Amino acid sequence: MTALDRAHNIEDLRRLAKRRLPQAMFDYIDGGAEDEGTMRGNRDAFCEVSLIPRQLVDVSKVDPKTTAFGCDIDLPFMIAPTGMSAMFHPDAERGVARAAGRSGTLYSLSTMGSTSIEDVAASSSGSKAFQIYAFRDRALTSEFIERARSARYDALILTVDVPVAGNRERDLRNGMTLPPALGLMGILDIARHWRWSLDYVRAPRMTLANVAHRIAEANADISTLSGYIANQFSSSMTWDDARSIAEEWGGPLAIKGVLHPDDARRAVDAGASAVVVSNHGGRQLDGAIASMDALPGIVDAIGDRCEVFLDGGIRRGSDIVKAIALGAKACFVGRPYLYGLGAAGEAGVEEALTILASETRRVMALMGATALGDLDRTCLSHRTLAASSHQRGE
Ligand SMILES: Cc1cc2nc3c(=O)[nH]c(=O)nc-3n(C[C@H](O)[C@H](O)[C@H](O)COP(=O)(O)O)c2cc1C
Repeated sequence: MTALDRAHNIEDLRRLAKRRLPQAMFDYIDGGAEDEGTMRGNRDAFCEVSLIPRQLVDVSKVDPKTTAFGCDIDLPFMIAPTGMSAMFHPDAERGVARAAGRSGTLYSLSTMGSTSIEDVAASSSGSKAFQIYAFRDRALTSEFIERARSARYDALILTVDVPVAGNRERDLRNGMTLPPALGLMGILDIARHWRWSLDYVRAPRMTLANVAHRIAEANADISTLSGYIANQFSSSMTWDDARSIAEEWGGPLAIKGVLHPDDARRAVDAGASAVVVSNHGGRQLDGAIASMDALPGIVDAIGDRCEVFLDGGIRRGSDIVKAIALGAKACFVGRPYLYGLGAAGEAGVEEALTILASETRRVMALMGATALGDLDRTCLSHRTLAASSHQRGE
């Protein structure tokens, strides 16, 4: 029996990742901005919502499949874009994309990924989205749109919650900055995690593969590249830029990082076919509303006009069921699969997806729901809302 066989939930995978990864790498996945209040709030918000099951329903067949971006997906959760997966395991983005494809769900590649748009496309025939930011150099955005189109990506995700970088203090403390500034303790810790170190030195040198050609053009190393990238992030993007990106892409587009119903309306007006209700997993604005708390207002504002997805804090199938009952079409998960990747590469990612899939099916059966369409707000009790409507005498 391997350690992976003994992982029964996402928290078990988190513990395994913590054991295999040097602290700086683990904290880069696990941490959030400043006091990490929003990151914790994402989890707490799920605990505030309780499920009300229906009994004596034939649940011998439960089917959690749905569609997202016009693609059929077997599971109501997808892979959120995250950067630099090669830092955690040499299987990196290719391994995650393959595991997602085998599980029948959609993989999202980050601009900041360590594998190129084209290499990910070649490694898995599953559904795929490419995530971009607003770049100062509009030609770079156009280049990404063209490359995603040529490589037959199904959707584009425009992340809008990074007008400036979040303040992640664990990373500052650990020297996980660009360029890296690992102190002596950090280097000793890396040496202590010899399995990870061996994998890392045997693997091809990590690069930010989607901008690799720009590195070559600039004849730059990773530190000057980081300056180049930081310089490329635009702090002056507006809804007009989102509209022009939507027009240029012309296909399914999600705007990711929306937390206000008015912004959700503006996203639809700008041409988005989906919004992702997200606070970047609590990695950007600490103090921001939990995704699950923002969801109902956004569903009410635009749920009949476009797809609404949610991410942030999902660690259990029951969290996914709650989000869907509250009106999300599907969810994205970030850290759950990164813990799997950090613990055991592609096999660990597959384990994370299998755990979430089997939990989702089991919770649906226990809820008396044979399909996602059986889940709605009548399946939920919200402690805070219930208390306030009680106070109002409703
Ligand atoms: C290590 C890490 C790197 C991330 N990198 C990106 C990124 O490059 N682009 C992006 O849009 N979101 C990025 N995110 C945010 C995720 O897409 C997603 O919103 C978040 O992880 C969801 O919360 P969860 O981790 O609790 O599931 C990253 C998240 C993590 C944990």
